[in-house]
Amino acid sequence: MLDRPTIDAPFLDEAFRHGPDKPANMLTVADAKAMDIRTMADLFKDHINPGQFHFMKLLGFHKVKVERAEGMFYVDQNGRRILDFFGGFGSLAFGHNHPRILKARKEFQDEKRHEIAIAFLSQYAAALAKNLALVSPGDLDMVFLGSSGSEVMEAAIKVAERASGRKNCKIVHAENSFHGKTKGVLSITDSTLYQGEFKLVGNSYKVPFGDLEALTRCVQSHPDIGVVVLETVQGGGGIIEASTDYWRGVRALCDRHKVVWVADEVQCGYGRTGTFYAFERHGVIPDVTALAKSFGGGKAAIGAMVARRDVYMKAYGTPKTAMIHAHATFGGIGEASVTAIEALNTLYDEDLIGNSGLVGSYLIERLNDIREKYPTIVKEVRGRGLMVGLEFHDFSRTLPLALRPMVAILDDKLKGSLSGFVGALLLRDYDCLVAFTEYNRNVIRLEPPLICTHENVDQFCDALDNLLGRGIVGIVKDFIKTQIG
Ligand SMILES: Cc1ncc(COP(=O)(O)O)c(C=O)c1O
Repeated sequence: MLDRPTIDAPFLDEAFRHGPDKPANMLTVADAKAMDIRTMADLFKDHINPGQFHFMKLLGFHKVKVERAEGMFYVDQNGRRILDFFGGFGSLAFGHNHPRILKARKEFQDEKRHEIAIAFLSQYAAALAKNLALVSPGDLDMVFLGSSGSEVMEAAIKVAERASGRKNCKIVHAENSFHGKTKGVLSITDSTLYQGEFKLVGNSYKVPFGDLEALTRCVQSHPDIGVVVLETVQGGGGIIEASTDYWRGVRALCDRHKVVWVADEVQCGYGRTGTFYAFERHGVIPDVTALAKSFGGGKAAIGAMVARRDVYMKAYGTPKTAMIHAHATFGGIGEASVTAIEALNTLYDEDLIGNSGLVGSYLIERLNDIREKYPTIVKEVRGRGLMVGLEFHDFSRTLPLALRPMVAILDDKLKGSLSGFVGALLLRDYDCLVAFTEYNRNVIRLEPPLICTHENVDQFCDALDNLLGRGIVGIVKDFIKTQIG
């Protein structure tokens, strides 16, 4: 129970002292823009997440105030240009503030177009849904628009569950899966950290990812299973792929047992791996899929669930069932939809899917050279297109004894993991930003914008090469200096 003071009359007076008056110290947009870095940190700790600040500080992220962001770069308060190989976990296919997307948004605002699409039909949502149906294979052509990856994944499992026709329908998901943090999808997100002892939906089975035999055994022995949910490439799990045989097997298994297959493409979709959907390269089509992140062009919070028409109609196809899961307040709102329409056109006009495949191969090639140069540090390079994982060897037992206690006191989470150290120094010394993964602390995730060039790859790989040249002891010592310096 929270320890709260008893509310008495004077306390209430204090709490409600403003009445209808605006608090004197309410901050303006100008105040926010001009805020110094110390105040930003204090307000983050006071009002957002003091514990998270601890991690930002460990990595040195708390020293950066982003003043502008353009293309592949953030620009900080000192004019430093930071190369973005993090890419918002795949949310920035177009880089930061793509001019075409900004223009479409500005025109929409200047023309005073409408946003909320609840009472009247929306021409913007309609056009966006049509475009998505055009770029989606087979009869994946019914679209639900939401505001986040979690929301559209909730929509995906709901449509699948109803279409499966099972009473008390059970869902299979994979080990190391990540499908979001809202209550429903949290139940199929394989993380004790995120599941945080909440009461979960409790209708799921878990199998190893990429293991067709295990999935087959599970589906065969539980006739109440109506839905299989899988990321086509596991992102949170540390960039893990499965074979084409596996995906063809999943399709055949689901057909045989009349199970609905949901492919989560929130992170790996939208051209990231060199095809619009990652499942396309395996020559299979799921029953339901979901996109978010880059779908909003890096400017709008919008995602989409796309279902095969027969699946959708089974779930919500009659006037009686149509409103069970119709869109929420912000589903398909005007400016977000227009942003997504312009983004999708730009994706094809600029051949960013092709670029992802091409530049991604070059990135993987260069990283493999680095792995060969530092075989005791880099364990594996994996991925496809611009969704790449770099795994380091666990060095907790090879680090000189003298350094181990120092490393241990820094943070439990970084023990044995080089990625935090490498990430912090890539930012501090080389102006490069990378991402981590909660599930495997030895992996760095590289998901740069799809506008990434060969020169950007060279800048990043030269930096990484130079940093790894310091050796593990040098890297750890330099990291420790950042904490005490
Ligand atoms: C595969 C996958 N599904 C779902 C989600 C949830 O998306 P959001 O954070 O927008 O709710 C994520 C987010 O990282 C994801 O990677």
